[in-house]
Amino acid sequence: MIKRECGCIREYLKTAISNCHLPSYIYGYPSKRAYRKFETPIDLKEVWGKQKGNLNLYIHIPFCNYKCTYCTLLSAKINDESLIKAYNQALIREIKEYGKIAGHMTVDSIYLGGGTPTILSKPQLKELFDAVTDNFPNIAQDAEIAIEGSPETLDLDKVRFLKEIGVNRVSMGIQTLNKEELKKTGRQHSIEESIQAINNIKQVGFKNFNLDLIYGLENQTKETWLESLQKTIEFKPNSMNLYPVVIRPLAGIQKAKEQNSDKFITDDSKYELYDISCEYMYQNGYHQETFVSFTKLKEDSYKQQVSDFQGNPLIGIGASARSYTNTLHYSTDYVVTKRSTLNIISDYCQKGFENLISHGFELDMDEQKRRSAILNLIISRLNAHEYKKKFDSDIWEEFGQELKAMEEEGCIETNKQSGQISLTQKGFKYSSILGSIFYSEKVKELEKNYTDK
Ligand SMILES: C[S@@+](CC[C@H](N)C(=O)[O-])C[C@H]1O[C@@H](n2cnc3c(N)ncnc32)[C@H](O)[C@@H]1O
Repeated sequence: MIKRECGCIREYLKTAISNCHLPSYIYGYPSKRAYRKFETPIDLKEVWGKQKGNLNLYIHIPFCNYKCTYCTLLSAKINDESLIKAYNQALIREIKEYGKIAGHMTVDSIYLGGGTPTILSKPQLKELFDAVTDNFPNIAQDAEIAIEGSPETLDLDKVRFLKEIGVNRVSMGIQTLNKEELKKTGRQHSIEESIQAINNIKQVGFKNFNLDLIYGLENQTKETWLESLQKTIEFKPNSMNLYPVVIRPLAGIQKAKEQNSDKFITDDSKYELYDISCEYMYQNGYHQETFVSFTKLKEDSYKQQVSDFQGNPLIGIGASARSYTNTLHYSTDYVVTKRSTLNIISDYCQKGFENLISHGFELDMDEQKRRSAILNLIISRLNAHEYKKKFDSDIWEEFGQELKAMEEEGCIETNKQSGQISLTQKGFKYSSILGSIFYSEKVKELEKNYTDK
C-alpha cells in the first residue's frame, strides 16, 4: 500500500474543493471502466458455490417509453412486444441458473432497475417475481423488494398490483415539475401524469416511496428548481434523490449544452443549489443518507445500496448487469458503448447462460480494504471497529493520513470509543472527492486507460 502524507492529501482536497470540482457520484468501486479480460476465464459455479450468508439481487430491465436526453444507462425506447417477452424469458432462465448455484443464500434485497421496469405487464412482472421466489427460497422477512418506474407506467391498477406481489419500495423519476424543463428532457409524460402517479403510490400506501429530481437541466434556474422541489415535498414522499445532472458524451443533452452552454448552470452553481436544497430538506424533516439521498424513514431508505456497500455479495441479472463478491467483480456484457442497445439486448436474449466469467476485476486484500473504506465512508457508515473485525487490521494505521486530512478539513468526525467515522455536512457535500482519495493507483490507471472498442 503506497502511503501518502496528510499534508499533500489536504492540499489535494483543498484544491479540489476550491475548484468547485463536482465529480460524478460514486456508485461502486472500482467502476466498470476498470474491468478487463481475464487471462483464464473463471468458473461461475465455483465463485458462487462457496459464498454463504446474505445476497442482493439486481435485475436490469432496459426498456423505456422514451429515451431521456441526459440518460446514458443501458436503456432504450423499445415497444417491440416480442423482444420484451424474449428478454423476460432470458431473465427467468438466468434466475434459474443462478438459483442452482446461489439459491442457498439468504436474499436481503431484490431490486428491479432500469430503464423502466414498470413498463412490464402485470403477468410479466408476476412471472419474474415467481422465478425469484421459486429459485431463491430463502428471502429475508425484512427484505427490500424495490422497483423503479416512471409516471406514465404507474396507474392505480399497476401500483396496487405491485403491492400485491410484495414490492415494498417504489422509486419514481419525476425529474422536474416544470413543464418547459420536462419537455427538454425528452420525457413524454405530462406534469399532471407525474402528480397522478404520486397520488396513486400514496393512495396504495407504500411506506417507502422515493421520488427522483434532477438539478442542472436545460433552462433551469435557481427559482424553477426550488419551485419543483417545494411542490414535490408537498406530497410528503418519505425519500427523495436529488441528482445534479451528469452530462456524459453521447447523451442528447451534451449536444444541447455544446450549442447553448448559457442555458446550463456551472458546477459552481450546482453546489449552490445543493446547499439550498439540503437546507430545505433538513427544514422539512428529512435527514441525509448520501450526497443525493434524503429520507424521513428511521430505517435505511435504500437497503440494497447499504448492503452492497457494506460488502454483501450481489448478483446482477440481465443485459450488462454487474455482479460482485468480495474478491471478484464482473459483468456479462463488457464492451457496451459503441454497440447499439438493441443489439446488446438481442444478444442477451439469444446467448443463453454463460458458465465462464471472462471480464471483470479481481480484488486483492488491498483493493477490498479500499472498496470498504470508500463505500462505507460515502454512506457515513465507516467504523474502525467493524473494519478491524473484517480485515483484522487498523484503519488508522492503514489510512490514517487520509482520514487525518479529511478530519482537519472538517469533512469527517470521529469517535474513538464507538469507532465511528461519520461525514459532516461538508463531508456529505464533497463525499465523491473524499472517496476518490482512497482509489488505488492501479484502478486510477485502468479507468484512465479505458477505451470503448
Ligand atoms: C435508472 S433511472 C430510472 C428512471 C425511470 N425509468 C424514469 O423514467 O423515471 C434512475 C434515476 O437516475 C437519475 N439519472 C439518470 N441519469 C442521470 C443523469 N445523467 N444525471 C442525473 N441523474 C440521472 C434520474 O433521476 C432517474 O430517475
